[in-house]
Amino acid sequence: MYSEVNIRAPAKINLGLEVLGRRPDGYHRLRTILQAVSLYDRLRLRRRSRGIRVRCRGLPECGQNNLAWRAAAIFLERSGVRGGLEIDLVKGIPVGGGLGGGSSDAAAVLLGASRLFCVSPTPEKLHEWAADLGSDVPFFLLSGTALGTGRGEIIEPLPPLRRAVRVLIYDPGFEVSTAEVYRRFRRRRLTRKVDKLNILARRWQRGGLGALGKAIFNDLEETVFNLYPRLAYARGRILEQGAKGALLSGSGSCLFGLFPAGGEASRAARVLGAELPGSCRVVHFLPPRQRWGVVKR
Ligand code: C5P
Repeated sequence: MYSEVNIRAPAKINLGLEVLGRRPDGYHRLRTILQAVSLYDRLRLRRRSRGIRVRCRGLPECGQNNLAWRAAAIFLERSGVRGGLEIDLVKGIPVGGGLGGGSSDAAAVLLGASRLFCVSPTPEKLHEWAADLGSDVPFFLLSGTALGTGRGEIIEPLPPLRRAVRVLIYDPGFEVSTAEVYRRFRRRRLTRKVDKLNILARRWQRGGLGALGKAIFNDLEETVFNLYPRLAYARGRILEQGAKGALLSGSGSCLFGLFPAGGEASRAARVLGAELPGSCRVVHFLPPRQRWGVVKR
């Protein structure tokens, strides 16, 4: 058995997010293209005799509402291992930013704890536990690029983008409630004639960054921009700084801009970081998860 597992939990952005309507269970049916990016939370997992303890720097909530805590509870309950879990979490991903930080932490706990206790739940079991934790959690078991359907939890891997892209992430410094955004969301009455997700998927496979940048879309953007008009302004400023496309990620609050490889994204991040409230950073797309973290015997 290992004494500890250190694991990085990456953020995601949604390159396309189509909301198809409300389901009887209150969730919304989605079609979304998710992409993991190189912005991370860090977790250290250790065994303890019993119970769960989560310590997190930079987060007020470390109890039973924290997704890492809930992932630990589900793992201990359903894997049948004996013992408890101690988790040290260092947040690098903004909280309430639409970047999936909490969901990624939860997936990292499921993967890391399996490693720590030397158990191998089947991919189907892991997926089931992940989906019970939240709609975005299953994506982070795989990371990379994927199409998400259902409420976002049905994941189909997509091939990685063949060209290098720099991604500017703008964090306005406040949180948005996903539940509130979905509550306020109203689908446009017009039946959609253009399949935007299909167009995006095709541009993903071939076509330049310019074409890809024009194809990215997020059906939640209008609802969130109505609540926070300053985010619509910030999106405009990212485009004026040379992004080939800019968008709200998930239900916000963070925005991202796609730039060609080279120094343009860093220059834009410096300009916008000085001009807008909050902060900017530059990251890149990640391939599918290959390693389950660094382990210590
Ligand atoms: O699944 P998760 O717990 O991350 O979702 C947070 C909230 O976002 C849900 O309680 C629900 O209100 C809303 N949601 C939704 N449809 C989805 C995903 C999330 O309405 N597909």
